Amino acid sequence: MHTSHEARRIPQALTAPEWWRTAVIYQIYPRSFADASGDGVGDLRGITGRLDALDELGVDALWLSPFMVSPQKDAGYDVADYCDVDPLFGTLADFDELLAAAHARGIRIIVDLVPNHSSDQHPWFQEALTAAPGSPERARYIFREGRGPEGDQPPTNWESIFGGPAWTRVTEADGSPGQWYLHLFDTSQPDFNWDSEEVQEEFRRILRFWLDRGVDGFRVDVAHGMVKDPTFPDWTPDPQAASMGGDATPAPYWEQVGVHDIYRDWNRLLAQYDGDRALCGEAWVSTIEKTALWVRPDEMHQTFNFHYLETPWDASALRRTIDDSLTAFSSVGAPSTWVLSNHDVVRHATRLGLTAESPQGAGIGSDSPGLPDPSQALQRARAATALMLALPGSAYLYQGEELGLPEVLEIPDDARQDPTWFRTSGERYGRDGCRVPIPWEAHAPAHGFSATGRSWIPQPQGWGEYARDGQRHDADSTLSMYRRLLALRRTHRLGEGSVEWLDVKDLLGAEAAEVLALRNQGVVVLANLGADPVALPSAATVLAASTHLPSAQHGVEQSSVGGAAALLPSDAVVWLVSPESPEFS
Ligand code: NOJ
Repeated sequence: MHTSHEARRIPQALTAPEWWRTAVIYQIYPRSFADASGDGVGDLRGITGRLDALDELGVDALWLSPFMVSPQKDAGYDVADYCDVDPLFGTLADFDELLAAAHARGIRIIVDLVPNHSSDQHPWFQEALTAAPGSPERARYIFREGRGPEGDQPPTNWESIFGGPAWTRVTEADGSPGQWYLHLFDTSQPDFNWDSEEVQEEFRRILRFWLDRGVDGFRVDVAHGMVKDPTFPDWTPDPQAASMGGDATPAPYWEQVGVHDIYRDWNRLLAQYDGDRALCGEAWVSTIEKTALWVRPDEMHQTFNFHYLETPWDASALRRTIDDSLTAFSSVGAPSTWVLSNHDVVRHATRLGLTAESPQGAGIGSDSPGLPDPSQALQRARAATALMLALPGSAYLYQGEELGLPEVLEIPDDARQDPTWFRTSGERYGRDGCRVPIPWEAHAPAHGFSATGRSWIPQPQGWGEYARDGQRHDADSTLSMYRRLLALRRTHRLGEGSVEWLDVKDLLGAEAAEVLALRNQGVVVLANLGADPVALPSAATVLAASTHLPSAQHGVEQSSVGGAAALLPSDAVVWLVSPESPEFS
């Protein structure tokens, strides 16, 4: 780690003001990224050893999913000590080394903060269990008496996001059945009471701990859920809504106005540090307009745009979401963000080809209905990425999407780890299928994930075909496409630009309802979501395309690709420029 008296070369990328407005942020799910220790679980030294690949990819920042001390009941989203590294992932010194190595490459790091709940192994919860009802120890969490004459009914009818009741009854010190505690997630994840000044102060301490170490910011878990309706009403979710929120009538534990005070407080705390440290909220909120409330000027800096992730592969729906996002976020002076995949959802290289609904968090398996043709789904995923990376603002990538990884469907039941699987007795597969350790080298043990060949969830047959080494020098690979798009995004400063929709008929000389055309910083982006190919406009130069562009036949007049006339196939996106005029005329 550098010390303050050392002359440290600060890469230019790290001096950019408000870097988060335009950054491409790559999510690392540490347990599945790279395993240096050989125990089959990825770790911090594994990440440090693979930083060159991320540098080569061309991302601006990394978001690390939790690596703090945890019994791993929810893959680290159950934290027992917020200020130390779990031995599974390494040590604080390993973290410092990783941060310094990333910074030396001009790459920032934001870490995951889990403030809605702790692990039941957190010392505070252990103290609460042995303390009496009404004690200060219990006041750090949400304990209530049960309903009914015996108090044996939960205080509300709330369901856990992972299935089953959201309340668990404790046994008091004298052995009698006692109070109930709230856990919106697993029983091992008791919710904090954010009315408690002690809880608030503890999280200020935790923020300072990581800020003092030099992190560039935080991704804040369940940022829409920390405050509960104090009347604790019964509530039944809309079965169609995403499990993490988004119902038309918000749950009494989502979107409560009190959460905003917490972020105002944290905003002031971060502002005491140099380097534009940022807060990015994981807020699954019902509308884009409401999502923007999380990023008002005195609150968080970014919030995930899950509305974009949830938009179907449909031209008018996507255009509406893009417009609504830009309008809503700019109305509060925040950048829009864009995201297609993360560790909680079916990977977009599978999801975009599904013909059946797959509610967020529920997951899919090999017997799920509506499974896609993998190559068509990948074609669509590449197109979706090429559209997303052309948009102004900041974009999030999830490890492995640059390899075109699909959701893994064939996970043996006894290898599954997601609490969703257990709490629903296998009715919902959960999220293991997007968390399988990623392949680095086609022919190495565990495909380069771990030298010992171990892998905490088995990698499926054929995983080596997606390995990074095979894709690096293949100009047509998904990895090469990501690298090209990221480099162009940077050169053309697309993150700082704006979206101007272009008239498709003017551009193509024909109506094409399923084609989107936009311009950002002089780059024209055409997305063909229709079933038929369309002829590209004349006189344009192709900067990048999500797929091979076939030549036009039968004398169709259109632009040239390397001198040959070209078509934009179905489920494809192209980036074009014209030196002469924006309309290529
Ligand atoms: C959201 C995280 O992304 C997810 O993985 C986790 O299970 C829940 N929050 C609970 O922390």
